[in-house]
Formats: sequence, C-alpha cells, structure tokens
Amino acid sequence: MDVIVRQDAESAAGLTARLIADALAATPRLVLGLATGRTMERVYERLARMHRDDGLDFSRAVTFNLDEYLGLPPEDENSYRHYMNTHLFDHVNIAMSNTHLPLGTAADPDAECARYERLIADAGGIDLQLVGIGRSGHIGFNEPLSALRSRTRATALAPETLRQNASMFGDDADRVPRRALTMGVGTILEARRILCLVTGREKAAILARAVEGPVSAMVSASALQMHPQCTCIVDEEAAACLGEREYYDWIFQNEPAWDAFR
Ligand code: F6R
Repeated sequence: MDVIVRQDAESAAGLTARLIADALAATPRLVLGLATGRTMERVYERLARMHRDDGLDFSRAVTFNLDEYLGLPPEDENSYRHYMNTHLFDHVNIAMSNTHLPLGTAADPDAECARYERLIADAGGIDLQLVGIGRSGHIGFNEPLSALRSRTRATALAPETLRQNASMFGDDADRVPRRALTMGVGTILEARRILCLVTGREKAAILARAVEGPVSAMVSASALQMHPQCTCIVDEEAAACLGEREYYDWIFQNEPAWDAFR
C-alpha cells in the first residue's frame, strides 16, 4: 500500500481524478469500479471537466459501482444510480448500457447479487476500483463483521453509517434505508488496482485503524493492506492520526512510480 498525503481535499481529489484519467487514456476499455458519497463528488466533477475540456474519452469504458440501497428504485433521487447519473454519467460520453449498479428493487436480492458478480467476471474483472472509507470503517457497505472474503450480497447498514448518510436524507437517519446490496470485501480485493480516497477530520481515527491497525473484519478497510496495488490518497485532516506519516512521505518521495506526481 502507498499512502499519499495531499494538502487538502481538493488536491487529494485532483490526484485521484488524474490517476483515473491516466488509466482510462492508457486503456480505453477500462473496467472501472466506482464509489458514491460526498468524498467522490470532487473526483467526478474533475473527470467531467477533463471530458469537457480535454476530451477525456469514456466511450469504451465499463463501470461497476460498489453498492446500492436496497428498496430504492433507480429513479429515486437518493439512489446511487441517481447519484452516478447526476455527478458523472450525464456529463461524459459513457454508454449508459456500460454502467452497472446492483438493482436495489430486485425481487430476489440474492439472485441480483449473483448476477452482479457474473457481470463483473464477464467483463474480465475490475481494472481499477475507487473506494472511500465510511466512519464505520466500511468499504462499499461492508460494515463491521463483514467477512474478509465476502462476496456481493444484501447486508444491514451499521447505525454509524445511517448517521453518516443522514445528511443525504434531510438529516433524518430514520429515512436512510437499513439495508443495501454491496460488493463484498473479497470482490473488491480482486480488482487489479485500488485507489482509496479519504478526506476530512472525521475520518482521521478510522483511517489510522485501516492503514496501521491489524487486518480485521471489524474494520473492512483494513483489508486493503492485503492488496498488492492499493494507493490511499488522503488530505492533511484525514492524516491527522497516522503514526508513521513521515515514513509514507519518504516512500512517496523515493518511489519512481510517483516521479510524475510530486
Ligand atoms: C459509497 C461507498 C461508501 C463511501 C463511504 C464514504 O458507494 O461505497 O463506502 O465511500 O461511506 O462516504 P462519504 O464520502 O460520503 O464520507
């Protein structure tokens, strides 16, 4: 794992967007794993701008989102499908038929999750997966106790997540759906490369547990330590509780892979 600390949320999102754009330019048929949430809004804003101003081409890209609320139809303004359309897909030249999210209203959620896993496999697996970390330590909606080898499935959300996401539901945690469909930790770890973007002071303690704590099903994000090609991009606020900050900076300064990004 690499840990790259940027000064603020803007520049952390900027580096993340640039890495995605570089991957897309190198592999136009990129299979891209996507996340939703506040943190990613800046990334999608930048990708949309790169498409508009620099012609960043999404025409052959295929996307798979991490998760969707169970029970919300795609047209619900709080669904993650709606989020993706408004923040990214409506602003770039992606073929909507190439964009995938689990269907929150599927009559048989288990069958829907199995179908989603098959779709990912049929696409050749995910080349680059974008993830954020929730205050509960989740990646996707893999809440504490999620098996490190879990697959796409329906699962209950933690109270901490209902509180975190209440702002999208008129600050009313009771309106946040209690369950969701999510790629599993095992599914996420199969991506060839992972970019993890974490910003803000409220994520500092959980980020330190994810990066420096033991690998544990109680902090799903700690499983990222097991991935051979994972880059965590964080801002100063999120980095506040990291104990080995100087070491991460030293690695960043000395790894040739990051020459173009310093
Ligand atoms: C959303 C997702 C979640 C979020 C996490 C952080 O698709 O997978 O794991 O990345 O909850 O959300 P924000 O950025 O809103 O703090």
